[in-house]
Amino acid sequence: MRKLIVGNWKMNGSLASLAEIDAIAQAGQDYPKVDVGLALPATLFAPAAAHAGGLIIGAQDVHARPSGAFTGSLSAAMLCEAGARLTIVGHSERRAMQGETDADVQAKAMAGLAAGLHVILCVGETLAEREAGLAESVVASQLEFSLPGDADPAKLAIAYEPIWAIGTGKVASVADVAAMHAAIRAKLAELTGPRAAQFRVLYGGSVTADNAPGLLATADVDGALVGGASLTAANFVPIIAAAAL
Ligand code: PGA
Repeated sequence: MRKLIVGNWKMNGSLASLAEIDAIAQAGQDYPKVDVGLALPATLFAPAAAHAGGLIIGAQDVHARPSGAFTGSLSAAMLCEAGARLTIVGHSERRAMQGETDADVQAKAMAGLAAGLHVILCVGETLAEREAGLAESVVASQLEFSLPGDADPAKLAIAYEPIWAIGTGKVASVADVAAMHAAIRAKLAELTGPRAAQFRVLYGGSVTADNAPGLLATADVDGALVGGASLTAANFVPIIAAAAL
């Protein structure tokens, strides 16, 4: 399976970042075996597209509806028109801060897919849930209620992002990641049958150049969703290189 490495810039980046985007796009060309994307603020789609080459420009969220009185939101068609080819849905920061439910996330995923976007659907447990032994059941439930049943594995990837590992520098152990990714694959089999093997399952949460080789060599880890370490080419390109090994 081709690996997918996507940077999530969150609310970071400006026109001054175009040189970083250029350098990251160049790495995408240097490692043609890896699919490389950047989920950018919408303000950067158009200027970044001019620098993108094969880089997949992505959004960090999408509204479920095609149009209407939804102040501040962007539809899937708007994202496509602005140059995005991918969108993240269900990131834990949005689930927590915007109160998004599994049903909301599923509706957003369906809207993205219907518009022709690639979708990265995020799932992951809190520290309290992990300590209570509930990590796998929480993630299985998120998948059950947020994955569109007929999703095409070529268009949708899952990102397992333990919430306690996001932006904290605390990366999940390779053993925990392997166990969770196997559990996700098993749940996908239950939900989608033989298509399950074809979905890319990414890991996210404090991925760095140092830990990427170990994580990306783990069974059932088909790529990474990278926050802080994707903001500069110096930190992000070695992660792309690790995915090419
Ligand atoms: P991080 O963020 O790599 O900074 O932990 C990951 C994410 O939120 O997708």
